[in-house]
Amino acid sequence: MQKLEIKGGRKISGTITISGSKNATLPILAATILTNKKVIIKNVPIVHDVETMTTLLSAIGSSVKLNKRKKIIEIINNNALKTFAPYNLLKTMRAGVLVLGPLLAKYRKAKVSLPGGCSIGQRPIDLHLKALKKMGARIKVKNGYIVASAKKGLKGCLIKFPKISVGATENILIASCFSKGKTKLRNCASEPEVQDLINFLKKLGCKINKVGKRSIDVFGVKKLKSTTHRVIFDRIEAGTYIIAAALTNGDTKITNINPKIMSTEINLLNKMKVKIIKKKNYIIVTSPKKMKSINVITKPYPGFPTDLQAQLMVLMTRAEGISTIKENIFENRFMHVSELRRMGAHIQILGNKAKIYGGSKLYGAEIMATDLRASVCLVLAGLVAKGKTILNRIYHLDRGYEEIENKLSNCGAKIKRLK
Ligand code: EPZ
Repeated sequence: MQKLEIKGGRKISGTITISGSKNATLPILAATILTNKKVIIKNVPIVHDVETMTTLLSAIGSSVKLNKRKKIIEIINNNALKTFAPYNLLKTMRAGVLVLGPLLAKYRKAKVSLPGGCSIGQRPIDLHLKALKKMGARIKVKNGYIVASAKKGLKGCLIKFPKISVGATENILIASCFSKGKTKLRNCASEPEVQDLINFLKKLGCKINKVGKRSIDVFGVKKLKSTTHRVIFDRIEAGTYIIAAALTNGDTKITNINPKIMSTEINLLNKMKVKIIKKKNYIIVTSPKKMKSINVITKPYPGFPTDLQAQLMVLMTRAEGISTIKENIFENRFMHVSELRRMGAHIQILGNKAKIYGGSKLYGAEIMATDLRASVCLVLAGLVAKGKTILNRIYHLDRGYEEIENKLSNCGAKIKRLK
């Protein structure tokens, strides 16, 4: 199994170009099921989850060409697709369940594996299924599969999500594009990745109106067009590298981004005394030797993202005083804490709250990654720790960070993959 070796204590200074967003690419790929016309998707990150989604689309019959060098995916659905998404492709990536909505809407039936377990929480998909049922689908869960049918097609209706869910909003949004009549979606997720999916669907010819911050109206259509779409930047990757620069007292340009989309994160880092100069499509990060402690609660967008919680926690170990984090989205997203403690961090956990005592020195150690963001938080800890850190199970990292070793070592980090 591959490992990363990091020798800590080097500044991250230079320029880091941010890749396209994994969490925007995945629903867009699922949405291509709706059209039979050619679709070109640009700026896709070359990470394992994206490759798993392209494998899933190929397995159901899409013709998918992934040009890794150009970061472009070309898709055409010449023939009717299979409506079966097997376990072996959903066990490693929960976003595979996003094919349920489009398959059911287009082919009126689908058999999709329930996603595999997840280390950050239970992550049920009840909101997806309840909404599809309200749209007229019959759904059974049998032998680990969701077996869904809608003989007369899905029907538009009012769906008020009882809880804000990115995945449920995306799945139902895609499904409603091919439903009969008007679907009113309320209490939707408003993440930039959802907006990017809306932009893509509109280019395909879907009739979607955002009628409020969390309200979307969709008018069903029957046929779609060909289109080209450029995926938005990965705001979580950008946030991760901003933290890397701040953590190591670097002076770093983070480019290929839109800082307006990240104002919550930028304002919060400013409160910690991290200096960020904002330009149209890049920012420059410098950090003072002394940072201030802060209190943070993770929330749906535009709140502070759960996907940056672990990374921020490492920065908090460098601040003066006690910082706190309340993790509001997932019930088990403090798995990195025990590894950070092994590196010397002083952190207390009480339920979904973490108390981070600033000023403790981190030391290199052999540590283990448990999920994508926990992995990258441990990479950050390794960058600032004294001595050598060996990070095991880095396959989690490869699911969502494109060329992380190159991006960091180009900016001065001593990091290499041990095979
Ligand atoms: C998306 O997951 C992201 N994944 C996650 O990114 C991200 O952490 C999460 O949104 C929250 O921002 C992708 O976009 C591919 P949710 P998703 O449905 O859609 C509960 C990463 O590291 N819920 O918004 O699965 C759920 O348990 C990751 O890149 C239900 O109760 O998240 C959670 O508490 C991991 N029932 C909350 O809602 C449902 O049917 C929000 O989850 C669905 C969700």
